[in-house]
Amino acid sequence: MERPTVLLALQGYATPYVDALQVAGFDVLTDPSVVPDLLANRRGVDLAVLDCDIHDASTVYAELHGTTPVPTILVFSDEPPAWAIGSNTQATRDEYALKPLPADALVYRLQALQIRYNRGARVDAGGWDDASGSEAATIGEGHVVSVFAPKGGVGKTTIAVNLSVALREQTRAQVLLLDADVGVGNVTSILDVPYRMGLADLADSTPEEWTDAAFQQAVCVHGASGVNVLTWGNDPAESERIKVDLLLAAVRWARAHYSYVVIDNHPSYDDRTMAMLAISGEIFLVVTPEVGPLRNAAQFLEVAREVGLGDVVKVIVNRSNHGVSMDDIAETLGKPVSAMIVSNGPKAVAAANEGMPMITKFPGDRMSADLHNVARLLTREPTAVQTEKSRPWWATLAARLSSV
Ligand SMILES: Nc1ncnc2c1ncn2[C@@H]1O[C@H](COP(=O)(O)OP(=O)(O)OP(=O)(O)O)[C@@H](O)[C@H]1O
Ligand SMILES: [Mg+2]
Repeated sequence: MERPTVLLALQGYATPYVDALQVAGFDVLTDPSVVPDLLANRRGVDLAVLDCDIHDASTVYAELHGTTPVPTILVFSDEPPAWAIGSNTQATRDEYALKPLPADALVYRLQALQIRYNRGARVDAGGWDDASGSEAATIGEGHVVSVFAPKGGVGKTTIAVNLSVALREQTRAQVLLLDADVGVGNVTSILDVPYRMGLADLADSTPEEWTDAAFQQAVCVHGASGVNVLTWGNDPAESERIKVDLLLAAVRWARAHYSYVVIDNHPSYDDRTMAMLAISGEIFLVVTPEVGPLRNAAQFLEVAREVGLGDVVKVIVNRSNHGVSMDDIAETLGKPVSAMIVSNGPKAVAAANEGMPMITKFPGDRMSADLHNVARLLTREPTAVQTEKSRPWWATLAARLSSV
């Protein structure tokens, strides 16, 4: 199986990145002077990482952005240079990262870029796609949203389940709920679906066997809503067998077949979770208005900003009618609150015990209306809050720093 090729134009400090990328399954080139020849011969440079401060960076950038631009992560110390911003408005496949960028973070960002643009990515059992041009861009357009909290028990699964059902009700689109809380979470215990198998059953197969049919077979359907569910499995003893590659392949497959992919994540910073967050277009960070969860959420936002994911995070406050005020939460996190969900005492538990989504069991309840509003963050035209996200992230960062 061919490995995707990454050009690392970093000069001088590439070794830890080369090592981490090779372990993660990439072939790495470190000499930018080979780029014109490679591209002229239609040999693959699937992705690139360009340090904007190196000598001739703008020339390398231009070479990478010929007829078929190579998706590139532009790394810089302070602000991206004008030539990178100007070009990026046309070639929207580029991303930005602030130095220093940890090697692990670079791996996740490249895996995410690879999935987004199918560069060198397997799209089915037929091998690696050489993915050039517009055809590649049409593969896998599904919207991937992660529900995450670094703290357990704040309502992630409740929100992920109800968000999935609400998305389906609001759009009638195809929705997949992926239970990636490996070893712990079990969506199928609060959503009554006929569970047959999970990703753990594919863990011993080779990546070539992770076909559309294999994933499809592991999906179960929630009859009442039509939401499809794919879980990691249900035996904690099997959890170590589920590797990052399998989860990424599952998301790659899901993105190609569903309009929305909702991921219920594990509350930690393990490799699997970081990979899921890195490939998500939106991260719904769930907090409850208490000091502990808020502190953890603030720490997560720091990490997210470091690895360039800060702008895709939206803050969802669960049990919002008790405790710290929304203004104080927004100030602590340096982000506006995007949605609030009231606590409704025993009803959420009663619905879960019956295997029913809250919004189906108690549609007239305030909590159900709030959960629908969470889905509207994805289904509605961008609101004032979302418009802020569309600003270049370094501009948001600059605004935040200047207001300190
Ligand atoms: N807004 C709410 N009002 C009342 N009960 C709620 C609310 N949100 C969640 N719950 C209840 O709180 C409990 C924990 O919720 P949930 O399982 O969704 O959290 P979680 O973050 O997924 O936890 P874990 O980290 O263990 O996976 C459940 O019993 C759920 O029914
Ligand atoms: Mg959970």
